[in-house]
Parts: sequence; structure tokens; C-alpha cells
Amino acid sequence: MSPHRTRIVQLVDPAALAARACEEVLRAAREALEARGVFHLALSGGSTPKLLYRALAESGMDGSRWHVHFGDERCVPPDHADSNFRMASEAWLGRGQVPAAQVHRIRGELEPAQAAREYEREIVASFGGAEATQLDLALLGLGSDGHTASLFPGSSALAETTARVAATYVEKLGVHRVTLTLPMLNESRAVLFLVAGTDKVNALRELFHGDGSAPPSPAALVRPREGNVTWMVDGAAAAGLQDE
Ligand code: 6PG
Repeated sequence: MSPHRTRIVQLVDPAALAARACEEVLRAAREALEARGVFHLALSGGSTPKLLYRALAESGMDGSRWHVHFGDERCVPPDHADSNFRMASEAWLGRGQVPAAQVHRIRGELEPAQAAREYEREIVASFGGAEATQLDLALLGLGSDGHTASLFPGSSALAETTARVAATYVEKLGVHRVTLTLPMLNESRAVLFLVAGTDKVNALRELFHGDGSAPPSPAALVRPREGNVTWMVDGAAAAGLQDE
């Protein structure tokens, strides 16, 4: 863990975490809009960020110059109960504060490799076709096994060194996913991990206090070259920040 670029913020509970994360997203957006006139944000899936997305929906944010991407998606249609797009739409994006053309959905209904190729093309197009596709902020979660986005321990996608997006088969879950890769995530200007719940204690402890005997978890490999990594951790997960 690169301490000089890592910040840890402990919040009492998921509601406080969502409120603080919302402030962080809005601050990052203000900075990006002032500097470049556009804000590129990648959303995390799973359940933890739902309260954050609701907070953003209620924040009165003006998303007219935002581009919203997804860090990963399950290979299901957009109306499926497991869809990250559906979760984010119900909590926030369905309100239309971000123009639909600037919400970049991973098309989970397609064959995974095709979905990954199309999504990579859409990311490049959203940056005006530029070679540099630097997210201003990537929101990420942490799995109890140390995965992040859909980069799971032992996944071949972890070895990707050039593509921004990869299709991956998650053996332990028996499902296909599409995920941003480490090259894309590590290009980000900033990364914000949102971690809540006692089921994340061991993964956090391994991240911050592991003895190096196990391979680094996928989340530990997210080390943006120029960017800062902020961990927002709720009280239930925070025990993992202490060494045993
Ligand atoms: C997903 C996420 C995944 C998630 C972690 C934590 O698509 O599920 O991208 O990486 O962030 O599994 O999930 P919870 O927030 O539900 O604990």
C-alpha cells in the first residue's frame, strides 16, 4: 500500500459513509469541471454504494457535464435484478440529472467479450476519441475476498496490461462479468473505495496488515500512478484497519 497517496476516512455507519462520499464526489466534480469542463466518474456496483447514489440524486447536482461510467457489470440484461446499471438507475440515474447519452452502460445482455469491446469503444468515444481516458474519480467496493470491480483473486483479467475493459468468468460465482482493468483504474486521477460491514474486516486487515505471504488482493493492485486513493470505511468494517 502506498501510504503517501492513501487516505483513510472512518465513518460511524453506512448513512454517514454515503453522506461523506457524496461530498467527495461533488468536490471532485467541481474540481474537474473547473479544470477541464467535464467530469468522468465510474460507478461501483454491489449494495454499498446504493445509499451514495440516492444521496447524489437528492443533492441537486447538475450532471449536464458529467459522464458516468460503470466499473463493472454482471452479464445480465439492464432490467435484471443483478444489474449494476439497474441498481444505479433506480437509486439515481433514472432521474435524468445526467443526460442519458452521457451514462455509459456496459451492455450486459451481449456476449461478454463483445460487451467488453463495445464498452472500451464507448469509453474512448466519451473522451472525444483521445488516447488518454483518465477517469476523474473511480468509485470501487471491496469484496470479502479482496476483489474490486469484477477483478477477483486469480482472475486472468488481473494480468491485462493494455485493454481498458475485460470480460471475465468468475469461477467461484459461476458467472460472467465485464470489468474495467487495472490499467484503466490506475490511470484514474482519484479512487474512492467504499467499504461497509463486518464481512469486510478480514479483507481490510489483509490489505493494510497482511504479512505478504499471500498474493496481493485485487484491491491492493489499484494504485493510481498520479492519483490518490481514499478508503471510506464504516464502523463495522473499521476493525479491519487495526492489526490483530
Ligand atoms: C459488483 C461490484 C463489486 C462490489 C463488491 C462489494 O459488481 O458487485 O463491483 O466489486 O463492489 O463485491 O459489494 P457490496 O457493496 O455489495 O458489499
